[in-house]
Amino acid sequence: MRVTPWEVSGHIDYDRLTKEFGTSRITKPLLGRLEKAAGESHFMLTRKVFFSHRDLDWLLDRYERGEQFALYTGRGPSGDTHLGHLLPWVFTKWLQDRFDAELYFQITDDEKFVVKEGLELGETTRLAYDNVLDIIALGFDPNKTFIFVDTDYIRSLYKIALEVAKRTTFSTAKAVFGFDNSTNIGTTFWPAIQAAPCFLPSYLKKMNVPVLIPAAIDQDPYWRIPRDIAPRLGYYKPAAIHNTFLPGLQGSDSKMSSSKPESTIFTTDKPDDVKKKIQRAFSGGGATMKEHREKGGNPDTDVACQYLYQMFEPDDKKIKDIFDDYRSGAVSTGEVKDILAKKVIAFLTEHQKKREEAKKKLDKFMLKD
Ligand code: TRP
Repeated sequence: MRVTPWEVSGHIDYDRLTKEFGTSRITKPLLGRLEKAAGESHFMLTRKVFFSHRDLDWLLDRYERGEQFALYTGRGPSGDTHLGHLLPWVFTKWLQDRFDAELYFQITDDEKFVVKEGLELGETTRLAYDNVLDIIALGFDPNKTFIFVDTDYIRSLYKIALEVAKRTTFSTAKAVFGFDNSTNIGTTFWPAIQAAPCFLPSYLKKMNVPVLIPAAIDQDPYWRIPRDIAPRLGYYKPAAIHNTFLPGLQGSDSKMSSSKPESTIFTTDKPDDVKKKIQRAFSGGGATMKEHREKGGNPDTDVACQYLYQMFEPDDKKIKDIFDDYRSGAVSTGEVKDILAKKVIAFLTEHQKKREEAKKKLDKFMLKD
């Protein structure tokens, strides 16, 4: 298993990850508190898609005492947006709606340029604005959502990044990110830029604002640095809530990745491609229909079942029925894939319409210097 902010591969053991990263599982009582504050539950919480956190209890203490928090998340524009990217954003929208929270959304064209071999800055900036359409399409509140592309908002971020960078030694950065002598210095400085938005709401409002970061667990190393130095800067430590990865179509030992188009459903894919890709997805069913009817399948490894569970079938009763029937062999892989394909196509048809409309709304959402 390898999980860093830039690489995720192998079979992911989430228990081991929480231990290695030093994060906490979301316990039942904490889940109860979050649901109570939100006024309802969310299936991504009860199904442990969001499973781990830092200081969520602290954040709720503050909230219960009447202190409003802000949300911070982001996107590294190295390619087109796919379903795996949308998963935490769908949950982020729920958090915004339930808590009436401002959302700060960082698009890191600079990061993808310095970190990735062979990607030019012009291309990452172009991808940044294209990816923004997917964010807007999800329906975030234009009055409470502030999206910024790093290279077009750097004047504001830079002052905070400098405060962070000055207090972060190379030895800490090496320990957190595994930098060595061959790492380019754009990359070694870069974590200060991802740390900056942790303090941006406080900086802009000139008062301390608690911040909650919903993001996949691979981003957690980034939060160690701002959490370490926050007290020295007089800011709150950012709190975080972490999700698991949506598996790639090839199976649960890989996450969905733009660099492997066959493992990935992009937000701009057409219905026929979606159907084809899902039909080819990894199956947890029997090798033959006869074997499947006799022995049943495994919904925990079946990709179509997992997509329904983690993202596309919020109804607990329906999920239970599908899983039970799949386990018993009454429902085949093909049938589950049909159910999923219909859901994904319906979702994407709507999404693509809103994505077009988003082109006219950019100004309402973007922060620029
Ligand atoms: N580093 C992230 C990526 O490569 C982008 C990012 C910036 C981000 N700030 C964030 C992701 C905050 C989650 C939360 O995708």
